[in-house]
Amino acid sequence: MTLLPLRGSALQPYLSDLGRLRITVFRDYPYLYEGSLDYEQDYLQRYLAAEDSLTVLALDGSAVVGATTCLPLVVESAEFQKPFRDAGIPVKEVCYFGESILLSQYRGQGVGRAFFQHREAHAQQLGLSSTAFCAVDRPIDHALRPLDYVPLDAFWTRLGYVKQPGLQASFHWKEVGEDTESAKTLTFWMKQISA
Ligand SMILES: CC(C)(COP(=O)(O)OP(=O)(O)OC[C@H]1O[C@@H](n2cnc3c(N)ncnc32)[C@H](O)[C@@H]1OP(=O)(O)O)[C@@H](O)C(=O)NCCC(=O)NCCS
Repeated sequence: MTLLPLRGSALQPYLSDLGRLRITVFRDYPYLYEGSLDYEQDYLQRYLAAEDSLTVLALDGSAVVGATTCLPLVVESAEFQKPFRDAGIPVKEVCYFGESILLSQYRGQGVGRAFFQHREAHAQQLGLSSTAFCAVDRPIDHALRPLDYVPLDAFWTRLGYVKQPGLQASFHWKEVGEDTESAKTLTFWMKQISA
């Protein structure tokens, strides 16, 4: 596997690949996301439009098998900024980490850790003082939780992230098996990367 960092609009040639990958990986528990390529193209425009965004692709040959994204929270949409504004955290100081996704057969080789290193270095270059991402909340006894599911909480904690129960957002998407979109609560995790 090789990692390919792409800034802003350099993502353009990979947009469809990234959309397809998001749909594949997020279809599994815990996201259970029944996505559409149209929505993906629309959602990913923000990374093309922001010259300070970073996407890192994991490639196996020419196949996109993993990806991670980030951009300054100040250029994210209002719904992502709201929990921070409500909590009195300066939005212009935060780098928002969009997603880390890797096809399951490539996991456990340190790519997820490398994704964090790339994004934190990018945030530092931009002069941002903290980084944040959010993860969906699911009850421990969720019916679709695979028996061998390992939560990533311990991994994120090892990387220095702290869960922020006071920072939550509600997003809507259509879940596998649902007829219409439903609301999900996501909780943010944050890390201070400079004083
Ligand atoms: C997040 C993700 C990209 C990490 O990828 P990865 O390359 O396996 O990450 P690493 O190899 O650096 O390992 C990270 C952690 O994953 C777990 N892990 C290791 N091997 C794994 C495997 N084969 N399968 C699942 N998880 C594994 C471990 O907890 C590991 O932490 P540790 O090394 O500190 O013990 C990947 O798990 C993924 O795509 N998950 C589904 C999407 C998702 O939930 N993303 C996060 C929110 S956007």
